Amino acid sequence: MIGLDICPTALPSWQKLSKLATTAKTMSLMEMFKEDANRAQRMAIEHDGLLLDFSKNLVDDTIWETLLELARQSHIERHRSALFAGEAINVTEDRPVSHPMLRCNHTDKQLSEDDALITMASEMRDHMADISEKIRSGQWLGVTGKPIRTILHIGIGGSALGPELACEALRPYSHPEIDIFFVANVDGAEILPLLKTLDPETTLVVVASKTFTTQETLINANTAACWLKESLGLENSPNSEHFIAITAQPENARLFGISESRILTFHHSVGGRYSLWSTVGLTVAIAVGFERFQQMLDGARAMDLHFTSAPLSSNLPVVMALLGIWYNNFLDATTVAIVPYCQRLSLLPTYLQQLDMESNGKSVSLSGQAINYATGPIVWGQPGTSGQHAFFQLLHQGTHLVPVDFIAAVNEPSSNHQHHSALLNNMLAQAAALMCGQTDERLPPHKYHAGNRPSNILLCNELTPYNFGQIISLYEHKIFVQGSIWNINSYDQWGVERGKGIANAIQNSTDGALEDMDSSTKHLSGFIKKMTSTAS
Ligand code: F6P
Repeated sequence: MIGLDICPTALPSWQKLSKLATTAKTMSLMEMFKEDANRAQRMAIEHDGLLLDFSKNLVDDTIWETLLELARQSHIERHRSALFAGEAINVTEDRPVSHPMLRCNHTDKQLSEDDALITMASEMRDHMADISEKIRSGQWLGVTGKPIRTILHIGIGGSALGPELACEALRPYSHPEIDIFFVANVDGAEILPLLKTLDPETTLVVVASKTFTTQETLINANTAACWLKESLGLENSPNSEHFIAITAQPENARLFGISESRILTFHHSVGGRYSLWSTVGLTVAIAVGFERFQQMLDGARAMDLHFTSAPLSSNLPVVMALLGIWYNNFLDATTVAIVPYCQRLSLLPTYLQQLDMESNGKSVSLSGQAINYATGPIVWGQPGTSGQHAFFQLLHQGTHLVPVDFIAAVNEPSSNHQHHSALLNNMLAQAAALMCGQTDERLPPHKYHAGNRPSNILLCNELTPYNFGQIISLYEHKIFVQGSIWNINSYDQWGVERGKGIANAIQNSTDGALEDMDSSTKHLSGFIKKMTSTAS
């Protein structure tokens, strides 16, 4: 990114796309399929067990070629080289972005030449493998001599969403005798009832926090520490076999009382929302075994190799990124729906909300200039078929254009033919209905479906650890390409600091000492104090 501060709206391709957008609004997808019998084959990419069908998008050859030209004129390949060369592309924190280095090896020269970081990541994985094997085999004993059989993972945002998604996605591979629980919210209604159901003698608390200063995580970790202290008579429970810390700030974990030998670290150049591949993934390795965690890394690495080598026109992250920019910046579609027809990926929309919206929800350029064009979209969704009974009415007949990413596994060992064929047929039907609509003139208006509603369909052969890793890496790089074209820093998150500061001010304020707050906050805070005292 160094020396690459390109305003996209100044590019000829961007200006051409603005003109082409008017034609797109009258485009008929069905007509394009009729005119080109080969469209479905031409606009599909098969790679390493994945199939992306992007033929149901509102693009003709001219628009598609112009979008590819936008990628070239934005120099995304030079940005990509800077990413993998370890340049400080996170310009506001003057850091490289090193999550891809967590899944490559010393021979992958096109992925990294930072041998020190690769060695550090390898040593980190060895430590993870050792711990996960000890726990899975029952060798890791609590203070009363019983083997650990429950993992309570405490963390929030990138320190929880990735591991929780991976544990859910890879549930068929999980250890039958080890239960995994995740706690993120500071709302005591999440952790307190849960602790009542757990056996402290066989519970290991994994506290994941890149900074080890996040208020919610520390409050939850302290509650877990008190629970262990009271139930096991442990004076300093964080300094026991019942606590592990995962952080980029080991000193803060030591200050919390966690033993040095049970603090796993990762490099500060790994972004929180990109940290699944680091020691933050320990809980995943415990759940499914380190070998399968490694397979997940291998899938992500395979996608990295694809991203760094495939031509732009058949490059999965580039294709998905360009289509997203087409809708977001030229067709006024400011949201994108993630609809996995795969219950094991039910947490994917939530995970991608942070990955995408915390990366590209920005409004200043790499050089700090105010931006006057749309950047990161609003990401939302839930699995199909459930979503069909929640928001598909709006997708079909609403006034908003919402591009949809459908994601599914062709084979699902956890299911059976009846269920799985119904699932996949519903997905195909919904994508077809969105595209073809129902435009019979004889229909009453309320039954009219305009159609021409775009979608991508991403299929994997089976949701294995490898294919799961590919899919996550695919979205990571899609987000990178979009941020690169939008000329923003996708790797900082200064927007989350203000709210934290005000929360601390309110939390630490004595009665009435909110003088510099707005009258609404003062009034609400006073009401809460009054009602809380009334209730207790
Ligand atoms: O949401 C803000 C954020 O800083 C995320 O980027 C991060 O994943 C999350 O909070 C948790 O931060 P930490 O891992 O430092 O506890």
